[in-house]
Amino acid sequence: MSTEFLDALRAAIGAEHVLTEGDLSGYEQDWRKRWHGKALAVARPADTGQVAAVVRLCARHGVALVPQGGNTGLVGGGVPDPSGRSLLLSLRRMNRVRAFDTANLTVTVDAGCVLQALQEAVAAQGLLFPLSLGAEGSATIGGNLATNAGGTQVLRYGNARELCLGLEVVTAQGEVWDGLSGLRKDNTGYDLRDLFIGSEGTLGVITGATLKLFPRPAAVTTALAACASMEQAVELLKAARAKLGAGLTGFEVMGRFALDLVKRHFPELPQPLPSAAWTVLLEQSDEESESHAQVRFEALLAAALEDGLIEDAAVAQSQAQSNAMWHLRESITLAQAQEGLNIKHDVALPVSSIPAYCAQADAALHAAFPGARIVNFGHLGDGNLHYNVQVPEGGDGAAFLRDHEAEVNRIVFDAVQSFGGSFSAEHGIGALKREELEQRKSPVALGLMRAIKQALDPQGLLNPGRVL
Ligand code: FAD
Ligand code: MLT
Ligand code: ZN
Repeated sequence: MSTEFLDALRAAIGAEHVLTEGDLSGYEQDWRKRWHGKALAVARPADTGQVAAVVRLCARHGVALVPQGGNTGLVGGGVPDPSGRSLLLSLRRMNRVRAFDTANLTVTVDAGCVLQALQEAVAAQGLLFPLSLGAEGSATIGGNLATNAGGTQVLRYGNARELCLGLEVVTAQGEVWDGLSGLRKDNTGYDLRDLFIGSEGTLGVITGATLKLFPRPAAVTTALAACASMEQAVELLKAARAKLGAGLTGFEVMGRFALDLVKRHFPELPQPLPSAAWTVLLEQSDEESESHAQVRFEALLAAALEDGLIEDAAVAQSQAQSNAMWHLRESITLAQAQEGLNIKHDVALPVSSIPAYCAQADAALHAAFPGARIVNFGHLGDGNLHYNVQVPEGGDGAAFLRDHEAEVNRIVFDAVQSFGGSFSAEHGIGALKREELEQRKSPVALGLMRAIKQALDPQGLLNPGRVL
């Protein structure tokens, strides 16, 4: 069967775009190197028509398929299982910017467009596509939409879902749904677009998207502030919102140990403030100029110092300094990976509950696992923390994960649940959080999700074993 299938696949998209030999680890292993799968083959279609042909072949031969973009997902959703029976469908060759409509402030792109390449193409038009995340040099628009990615600008511009107006999707039957549209209002029945966004490749293959653009601010600049407690960081957020309004485009928090790890693994990166319990990175977008933004930052931070909300602050004096501050923030994930195996979390809470959540979860974890090191950082402005757990210093990461991951997760997610939070804010469910979904989502919600999956993909061929 598989020979017949592979021959048909080669005929449909060209033999050179069906990979079965050589080093395929870039497709078969995830970014964290936590999941190691084996694909029947890697198919690299060139356009929507070829994707549809591939999906029809899969449906005819009963072959499961795993859509993949940049393979930067953090929940193991974009790599094949080890069976060697599923087709890895890579969208990376589909990387065209199809059309700008600058009067409508929209752009239509192929799903395999790399996020950073799109940001640059949009900037060349004097406009802004605000989605921004550490993996933007590899992550694709299709992957961003399939995971409903968040990132560092959600506070002002929303997550990937809010930035998408229209989609083109290949269904599980290999039909093309052309839902590309730049309309900001369209109440014509069920919202199919929103069904596919965040579905992690389990309901359809996203092949194109129409995205919202924004005027480019005159200046974007950053500041760092040191806070002695999470309560103070939350108060600073309130003050920044009140004083900067829509000008506040980023509000990230970095715990002391997170920045200690960056210092240990990237000692060359400047850390302008002395070590503090919490370092906040604020980003401001200004319609006038960089110096205008700096003056507004200085006024905000001087008042915060006087009110006892912060202990120290540094306002970037140049674009290079702003970039360096962001670089520090974006280096935490890599520093953590270099430190060794760890247990990652991506939790959402009402911002008002975050100080109490941190106190509760920290105490419970330290009681259960003395010496466990908590790498807490994230998008405080969105109520989204990456509350990660690193093994005790010098400990065996693999053994810790094997023996304690389930209990660490239970402690963290029970605390999240007790504050009305979510165990997945922006990374999705993938393979990593399926059991959590099963246990923590309501039976009614799960029933509705299964009914949708059954209706759209009755053969269960699209990314099986992921999400549900
Ligand atoms: P992949 O990893 O290839 O796939 C992810 C999922 O989407 C898989 O389930 C896959 O099957 C599915 N998929 C991919 N393409 C398609 C398609 N065309 N149609 C249907 N399904 C598809 N995420 C955040 O939200 N915020 C962050 O700040 C953030 N920072 C990150 C920083 C680093 C260093 C890294 C490594 C990751 C980060 N992420 C972040 C994770 C994030 O989910 C991804 O970076 C990105 O959104 C995934 O895009 P991708 O193209 O790599 O998708
Ligand atoms: C981030 O905010 O840096 C990302 O979501 C990556 C991570 O959680 O490590
Ligand atoms: Zn994040």
